[in-house]
Amino acid sequence: MNTGKVYLVGAGPGDPDLITVKGANAIKAADVIVYDRLVNKKLLDYAKPLVKLVYCGKLPDRHIIPQEEINKILVSHALQGKTVVRLKGGDPSIFGRVGEEAEFCVENGISFEIVPGITSGIAASTYAGIPLTHRDFSSSCAFITGHKRTDEVRKDIQWDKLATSIDTLVFYMGVGNIGMIQEQLTKHGRSPNTPVALVRWGTTEEQETLVGTLQDIVRKVEEAQFRSPAIIVVGEVVKLRDKLAWFQEKGASMVKLAHA
Ligand SMILES: C[S@@+](CC[C@H](N)C(=O)[O-])C[C@H]1O[C@@H](n2cnc3c(N)ncnc32)[C@H](O)[C@@H]1O
Repeated sequence: MNTGKVYLVGAGPGDPDLITVKGANAIKAADVIVYDRLVNKKLLDYAKPLVKLVYCGKLPDRHIIPQEEINKILVSHALQGKTVVRLKGGDPSIFGRVGEEAEFCVENGISFEIVPGITSGIAASTYAGIPLTHRDFSSSCAFITGHKRTDEVRKDIQWDKLATSIDTLVFYMGVGNIGMIQEQLTKHGRSPNTPVALVRWGTTEEQETLVGTLQDIVRKVEEAQFRSPAIIVVGEVVKLRDKLAWFQEKGASMVKLAHA
């Protein structure tokens, strides 16, 4: 029997229209789809009727299926000759562990393709009216994990360099760690007046944005009980939202209804 193939596909940030044509075609061709929690389930409508669906979403506090197990699921189906799609939120190479899955394919002689997706750091900020670069405000941008591995501050982030050398900072998985992020950035020289935005469930009907500064964002997050999944954008570009917010957000539409 011929071996199958694994497609490691970015599903995009939430709005189902933001998947690539190549990604949608891979879903249409799949015999098996292994998908995550942040993948919009509407994308599964592209699939063949008899497709095998495997949910392996991770919750913030625990992994439903360990990564090693996911790797084995991908490879074992491919060894049976199946076309396997590993559908991951956003872009698979941005905090998506695609490297580990691709390495496992290589180690087991399985051919694979990586189909990029639109990462939430770009999409959620854009939908919130915040372009990450702008000729007047930002000529550099970084994607950073805000995930807390232990109670300690992550040692592999060089906060002293990060805090002031890059104009726009985009943190993923950082909501629960916003206090540490604020503390590290201001301690290493970023102005407390730097604008900050959190965008939750970006590009979906549930999108909500919270804006503040490094000085007051921790209090605002607590007061609003703002929860993940959200990206955190730090930098002067956040100010552009006042002019450029174009997407009807959850809170905004509620206000409109209340006045209707
Ligand atoms: C494990 S990372 C995966 C990132 C993904 N590979 C990507 O490119 O967007 C999960 C984090 O991505 C961010 N995220 C994913 N989807 C989001 C969305 N629709 N709106 C805001 N943040 C999102 C959140 O910070 C969340 O905690």
